[in-house]
Amino acid sequence: MALLTVAGLRIAFSHRGGSTEVVRGVEFAVEPGETVGLVGESGSGKSLACRSIIRLMPAHATMTASKVEFDGRDVLAMSAKELRDHRAHSVGMIFQDPYSCFDPTMRIGEQVAETLRVNAGLEGDAAKARALELLESVDIASPEQRFRAYPHELSGGMRQRVMIAIAISASPKLLIADEPTTALDVTTQAQILGLIEQRRRESGMAVLLVSHDFGVIAQACDRVVVMYGGYVVEAGPVAEVCARPQHPYTRGLLSSIPSLESAGRRVRRAGIPGQPPNPADLVAGCPFADRCAQVRPACRELHVALEGVGDGHVTACPYVRDGVPVTNAGGSR
Ligand SMILES: Nc1ncnc2c1ncn2[C@@H]1O[C@H](COP(=O)(O)OP(=O)(O)O)[C@@H](O)[C@H]1O
Ligand SMILES: [Mg+2]
Repeated sequence: MALLTVAGLRIAFSHRGGSTEVVRGVEFAVEPGETVGLVGESGSGKSLACRSIIRLMPAHATMTASKVEFDGRDVLAMSAKELRDHRAHSVGMIFQDPYSCFDPTMRIGEQVAETLRVNAGLEGDAAKARALELLESVDIASPEQRFRAYPHELSGGMRQRVMIAIAISASPKLLIADEPTTALDVTTQAQILGLIEQRRRESGMAVLLVSHDFGVIAQACDRVVVMYGGYVVEAGPVAEVCARPQHPYTRGLLSSIPSLESAGRRVRRAGIPGQPPNPADLVAGCPFADRCAQVRPACRELHVALEGVGDGHVTACPYVRDGVPVTNAGGSR
């Protein structure tokens, strides 16, 4: 049984002019212990999709779904108390910018201890001892000294390690890592991804890793879910999707991965011309139509739906297979 199943997820923001849907029928699943990647350009709905798992929406956002099930429990039906418990114990979360998650006026160790007090009921010396243990478990050298440091005294990579320590302190079954390495240099990025992977292997927790960089996802994940304009446009085992990308958007993302010769130097290859869509401008059809080199008239009316192409690999483009346009595909759609 899947650890997490999300289906029919829709999220809309209300504003004076009405409302704009920014997540448009998203589905994905995470099996116990596996690492799933959510990849897509900025604005594709990745962070909101993550927040649906703990039903924590920003102001003015409305979320509906046909299913959000975690560890056999219906997240959509949880009471306020059950939800608090779910957020504190079942799911750990880390973000791109750990600095914003800390209180700048409070020592790091006290903040870790405070989390332990709230989430695990530990007080005083017990909380401190456990906090030190946690800092050590994320490979922080001289934890006693770091314990007394303020957030600004730590490097970005060190702060992310502390975030990870806090996120896994309650032994969650799922760690959601939303662009955890985006603000870090390449070397620190590799260390943080390595640390997450090590903790996953040791604890058996699953990881949902969000990134706009397919290189990160390809390196770290078992399966990948590709998002564009609030839709899932392709998903499947990472090796399979990288070897046989089906959706023109996925092919574009893969071509933007720094080539092997330039790895580490942040030199970008071709990439995808044009900009991601403004959700308010998306009316009907394939969200990628305006940027797709293989667009055809029917794409403007396409009902975006995932179709299997074998081995758990699905794509929302019925018109291109292995980069080759398909004639008469998609029937009358
Ligand atoms: N608080 C908010 N108010 C209004 N629009 C928002 C808010 N948060 C996100 N959005 C919009 O929702 C869309 C998806 O956002 P998000 O899930 O953060 O994307 P991603 O994480 O993939 O970059 C974007 O178009 C963004 O502008
Ligand atoms: Mg985001």
